[in-house]
Parts: sequence; structure tokens; C-alpha cells
Amino acid sequence: MTDPAARLRLIAAVADIPDGGLAFTYPSGPFPAGGILVRTAAGVRGWRNQCRHLAVPLDHDDPGRFTTGDRRHLVCGTHGALYRPDDGVCVAGPCRGAQLRGLPIVVAGGNVYLDLDALPEPLAAFRSDP
Ligand code: FES
Repeated sequence: MTDPAARLRLIAAVADIPDGGLAFTYPSGPFPAGGILVRTAAGVRGWRNQCRHLAVPLDHDDPGRFTTGDRRHLVCGTHGALYRPDDGVCVAGPCRGAQLRGLPIVVAGGNVYLDLDALPEPLAAFRSDP
């Protein structure tokens, strides 16, 4: 059994997550992958920073910009897909109905951790996509 402390990697304090979201990287096979933390009314959410239309970061064209001006949605700057921050569902744009890939985060003691043991296998998304 893995030591719980060893499998949790600190990402940030909840209080340090900006209103517009916080980018971070995590190990994903041989390459790092990008994630986003967002605070929502339902709690902190962790999403992979990758659009469901094309496999590009949401902030590909404007690094660090993840939300609309009113902060109601996460936005992909490439073609404008809008995602609900709480459940990651795309509500407008070319991938409407698709969902951002969630990351296994744990919120404890005012901090957000990534559960390294619960990360999806890096190539699983390619095998499960239609
Ligand atoms: S790549 Fe994100 S909407 Fe097209």
C-alpha cells in the first residue's frame, strides 16, 4: 500500500488560487502535462488544461487566460469553447457537450493536492476517445 503522504503532491493553497484559475504541471508519462485549478461555488476543481475540440491548452493563444471576463466559464482561446468550471461540461462552441478531463485532487487543511496514484494513464484518453 502506498504511503498516502507520498502520493499527494501539494499544488497550492486554496487561498492562493486566483479568480481566473491557476495553471500547474504534473507528471504524465515521459512528459509533463498541464492542469488548471479553479475555485467554484461547489469547491475547488482540477481540470486537465486541454480543450476537448483539439488537443491544445485552453490558454494556447493567451497564456494564463482560462476564463471569460465575467469568470462564469472556462474558455478555450483557440475557437472559443465555453466550459462550466464546476463540472467541466462544454456549453458552447465546437465541442459542446464534451467534458474537460478531471484531475484527482484532494483538498485538505486549506491546501490542494494532486493524488499521483489516481492520475489517469497518459494514453488512456486516446484509447477511449471515439
Ligand atoms: S481548440 Fe478549443 S475550441 Fe477549438
